[in-house]
Amino acid sequence: MQKVRKAVFPLAGHGTRFLPMTKSSPKEMLPIIDKPVVQYVVEEAVESGIRQIVMVTGRGKRAIEDHFDISYELEDVLRKKNKLDILAELQRIASLSEITYIRQKEALGLGHAVLCSEMVVGNEPFAVALGDEILYGPKSGLAQLLEVYEELQAPVIGLQRVPRSEVSHYGIVDGTPVRDGLFRVDRLVEKPKAQDAPSDYAIIGRYILTPDVYGILGTQKPGVGGEIQLTDALNTLARLRPVYAMEIQGDRFDTGDKMGFLKATVHFALKRGDLSEEFRTFLQGVLAQGSLNPESEIPGETVYANR
Ligand code: G1P
Repeated sequence: MQKVRKAVFPLAGHGTRFLPMTKSSPKEMLPIIDKPVVQYVVEEAVESGIRQIVMVTGRGKRAIEDHFDISYELEDVLRKKNKLDILAELQRIASLSEITYIRQKEALGLGHAVLCSEMVVGNEPFAVALGDEILYGPKSGLAQLLEVYEELQAPVIGLQRVPRSEVSHYGIVDGTPVRDGLFRVDRLVEKPKAQDAPSDYAIIGRYILTPDVYGILGTQKPGVGGEIQLTDALNTLARLRPVYAMEIQGDRFDTGDKMGFLKATVHFALKRGDLSEEFRTFLQGVLAQGSLNPESEIPGETVYANR
């Protein structure tokens, strides 16, 4: 069996849910404390044993490349100022993984972004990880999927249950249970209406795929939103060979969404040894004062509330 050595990160999305912040900064570079979101995802891949990352980027995403590159000038300054801890951390980040960058010239959809990686990935199985979704748990999300891939030697899609009211934001799985938390995929539907959804098991941004999906993506017609959907291609693949879907254990934060971003920030701040105590006291104070009542809202802050 071929080992999964590469992970494709589709990163060309515009981040429209997070405007105006994402007008000139990639959404994947939003900081959760002092680390950009995409670094959490790279670390997840590395933890699962995957060091070769294929980043499919687009215009305005150069900051991502700079983040994982070596900055000689900065390193020199840090050395002279004797800030050796942060210097070591920057060097660790630059040597964490081997990254290849591909430009997706037009944002034609997730399926198209994955297709752009074919030339680099070639004829081997690969992981896909969406660069704005952070998973947190005792075991890396990709590592959980890889275990099942190695056992069943078939594509595996990562799932989590979502409230029925949210199924229309996701790809939804119709599957036959194999064992607890594992399904064989019968059908996948991208962003169904709540009443049409076959289940409440949503595709989250983690997949282990086989290279035969590229052939399907190459002829895939645009689907929901006029985009070439990975979900549609995987639906076709599931008719040709067994495809599995598995519930991933752990907390998931969709940081491309304002609420997901806030939750991730609070979650990670409370986990950080250097911040948690003071931050917890601060939060308790805020909640005790009831400063969440509408009268204390900052004027103008509701402008974007309904997007
Ligand atoms: C993409 C996929 C969808 C999946 C979701 C997870 O949608 O197309 O199947 O459920 O990611 O976040 P997007 O959020 O890019 O519209």
